[in-house]
Amino acid sequence: MAQNDSLRKYANYIMESYPGSNHRDYELDTAGLSNASFGKEIRDKEFALKKTITFINHGSYGTVPRRLLDIQTRYLWEREEQPDLWFRFHAKHYVERSTQAVADFIGADVSNVLLLSNTTSALNIIVRSYPFKAGDAILDTNLSYGAIKNMCYDFTTRIRPDVKRVQLQVNFPIDGEESIVEQYEDILKNNPAIKMVILDHITSPTSIIMPVRQIVDVCHKHGALVVIDGAHAVGQLPLNVPEIGADIYTSNMHKWLYTPRGSSFLWFDSKHESWINPSNTSWQLGLSLDKQFFDQGTCEHIPFICARHALEFYTAIGGLEKIVAYTSELAEKAKEIFVTELGLETLQIPESLEAPNMKLIKLPAFPKFPRSLERTWGLQNALFAENNIFGIVFLFSGSFYVRLSFQVYNDVDDLRTVAKVMRDFIDKNI
Ligand SMILES: Cc1ncc(COP(=O)(O)O)c(C=O)c1O
Repeated sequence: MAQNDSLRKYANYIMESYPGSNHRDYELDTAGLSNASFGKEIRDKEFALKKTITFINHGSYGTVPRRLLDIQTRYLWEREEQPDLWFRFHAKHYVERSTQAVADFIGADVSNVLLLSNTTSALNIIVRSYPFKAGDAILDTNLSYGAIKNMCYDFTTRIRPDVKRVQLQVNFPIDGEESIVEQYEDILKNNPAIKMVILDHITSPTSIIMPVRQIVDVCHKHGALVVIDGAHAVGQLPLNVPEIGADIYTSNMHKWLYTPRGSSFLWFDSKHESWINPSNTSWQLGLSLDKQFFDQGTCEHIPFICARHALEFYTAIGGLEKIVAYTSELAEKAKEIFVTELGLETLQIPESLEAPNMKLIKLPAFPKFPRSLERTWGLQNALFAENNIFGIVFLFSGSFYVRLSFQVYNDVDDLRTVAKVMRDFIDKNI
């Protein structure tokens, strides 16, 4: 049965104007941010982190600056003053303004950008929407994020068992970009059924910058679409999304751009617009993608509405150049402390492939903590829980590693604190 036309016309309830109501186009107060000093000063003034903790894991959930929390709260209060006007009148306007700001930031046309809650949703939406044919295959890698590996598994076993999953085992040591590109070339040549490649821009937790442009070319040569999982990229790497040449690109903004959590973007090449569907069919069925994504039932838009303000914050404190100059300095210092002084190793990859804000430290073998996935949190707790530190421990290629994240609020004292705890633990446990 055809979609009811009058229902469709009625459904377009997102109103252009309403008597007596005006959008409050808030602006973030950026006073004092341009000369904020990184390290303890910005931590105390601009972030809500507890004084007693050493926070060296921005990479998982980030932390939201106070000014962003304030502006998020203003939207929350505004919504409760008149919920109907918010959902029917204000929210779409705010989402549009934020989408425009994000599109400008990533060098994209606004018509190719959708805002949604997180990278996991974006990737699920894309994989489930794509019109795979029986016998087609999807490619992920041993370096893909765990949740996304699960998604590939679930999709190809439960949802579309007629689609195959192929997993590339990226071989180590990696001696340069070329060797990664060659591994993609080989697997695509040997598996012509691969029609979609899920490609990380920065792998997590291994923190490797993948040569995405070259891999995109190889995939396209072999007839495969490229969907980039850039969860860690925006805010950490220079990013002009259309220039990468991928088909789809998604990144979290609640990691390195400081947005309140539940905020990511999905960019798509215009040629794919026809097959992309939101996870929920709702009132806006048949209308433009931005409307369908906006209205997937009553939901929370404020985190991605705040992306516009997060960009104001990010830019005001100095933007990518100043932030990465600072975090790179910390990373250098970390190498000096953990490698030169403690005698530990990092992951053996060329420096050009190391993510600027995340570094890995390899732990020695501990008899009490056999190297297995199940023992990871046990080791994490034993190492850090009593010391008010949160750094991520993970198992990779038969060894445990600690991933250290660097942000503008970290300083050398944080590194020294973590190093002392690790040294004491190693002395006691090897
Ligand atoms: C590479 C990668 N992909 C996807 C995700 C999932 O992000 P989210 O939990 O915000 O959906 C993460 C989170 O850390 C990640 O690192």
